Amino acid sequence: MVSRRGFMAGLAGAAMLPRVLGDSRAWAAAPSAPLVLNAAETTLTLPGCQRPTTLWTYGDAWPAEIRLKRGEMAHLLLRNQLKDHTAIHWHGLRVPHAMDGVPYVTQDPVKHGEEFMYSFAPPDPGTFFFHPHCNTVEALGRGLAGALIVEDPREDGLFDLDRTLVVKDWRVAGDGSYLSFMTDRGAARAGTFGTRRSVNGATAPVITAPPGARVRLRLLNVDTSRIMTLGAAGAPVSIVATDGNACPPFTLDGWRLGPAMRADLALVMPVRPGSRVEIRDTWGQEPFPLAVLVAEGSPGTADRRALALPKAELPRPDLKTAEFLTLSLQAGVSDPALDSWLKENRFGDDALCRAERLFWAINNKAWPAMDMDKRPPPLAELTPGRSYVVEIANHTQHPHPIHLHGHTFQVLSSSRGPIRAHWADTVLVAPDERVRIAFVAGQPGDWMLHCHIIEHQETGMMGYIRVG
Ligand code: C2O
Ligand code: CU
Repeated sequence: MVSRRGFMAGLAGAAMLPRVLGDSRAWAAAPSAPLVLNAAETTLTLPGCQRPTTLWTYGDAWPAEIRLKRGEMAHLLLRNQLKDHTAIHWHGLRVPHAMDGVPYVTQDPVKHGEEFMYSFAPPDPGTFFFHPHCNTVEALGRGLAGALIVEDPREDGLFDLDRTLVVKDWRVAGDGSYLSFMTDRGAARAGTFGTRRSVNGATAPVITAPPGARVRLRLLNVDTSRIMTLGAAGAPVSIVATDGNACPPFTLDGWRLGPAMRADLALVMPVRPGSRVEIRDTWGQEPFPLAVLVAEGSPGTADRRALALPKAELPRPDLKTAEFLTLSLQAGVSDPALDSWLKENRFGDDALCRAERLFWAINNKAWPAMDMDKRPPPLAELTPGRSYVVEIANHTQHPHPIHLHGHTFQVLSSSRGPIRAHWADTVLVAPDERVRIAFVAGQPGDWMLHCHIIEHQETGMMGYIRVG
């Protein structure tokens, strides 16, 4: 088997080659050639459907996966072949503000037939993803998201097998046609759930691995609503990275993975051929299988090194000097001025980027529009390089996975009891819970902060912090 390293080296000077990587599809670019991401339609027959569904994807298959190298400048050319305008947000990557992919905030929307070049050197290794930032309920509903893996030479040789598992539900009927992506009932509560579950577009993909192999599974929840509780059967499985950031290994049992959250899992395959390991979502009454690993082939050399990733290298907030801020997650709209503005302007010229209803707010501010003149003031103004502790208080009856752009934060504590401190870019906050996160304010700019239950994001639960 060609190693990832050999494959990348072999590509030097070539433009771009598609490559099928097990269950997912990956593209790799030579260091300076742009990697082309065609936002376009593709078809796939989803689990339980008799006919194919038209999906939106990057490239020509679903899910798209790209691999970049830590610290190496990457050039990613978005070509928009979809009818609506779009842009790409690199979720969890600490990219320069101009590359953050938020229409009207960091760039102009990329219209049908247009292109936009994203150039950045990803500073941190890990498992990330990318998706658009307007009309996201529909775009993500149709599948417009891809996995982004940032490789680090420090991780070379740690695992025998590295697979990506993209979890997403689909709102489709049996004939493959879409049901409405958004409902008032869902938007005002826990989100509108899909009717078919999938992992890499299929039901519980089967992955074969040599007995005794060291396996890394990169699990991404790109669903717009679903929260999972992780579990496993057949072997001990640990989490070695949260939202892509290495952590001391701990058991995955009971770990919650909300929309946009990722977990890197590590395990050693049982040595008996035919043995099975199942990764599960145990949130519901019956455990739901996400993937099945089967021990097959000639046994690997029993490698006794600990299953762990090299330590995360992120800016560490100084908790002693940190400034304290609070964010309060609220149901309902508390700003009548914004509400009436919204009513008057509902049929303005870019409905794709604007809410039609407001059910949620942060610190009494709702995000009604991406119009520069009409958007609310920042939730907070921060100084680059300064440390902040932010308490996020959930005053609603539903959990919210809260995401901050451009920063990786430490999740420090919860009002509900002891938690495992960890790095993240999205944190799940339960009803009545107060969670404290800490980070060093990064590059200057307006960085979006929002719920990643996309119907909540698009009905008010979004704002931004201003750094600079
Ligand atoms: Cu995946 Cu604004 O986020
Ligand atoms: Cu929410």
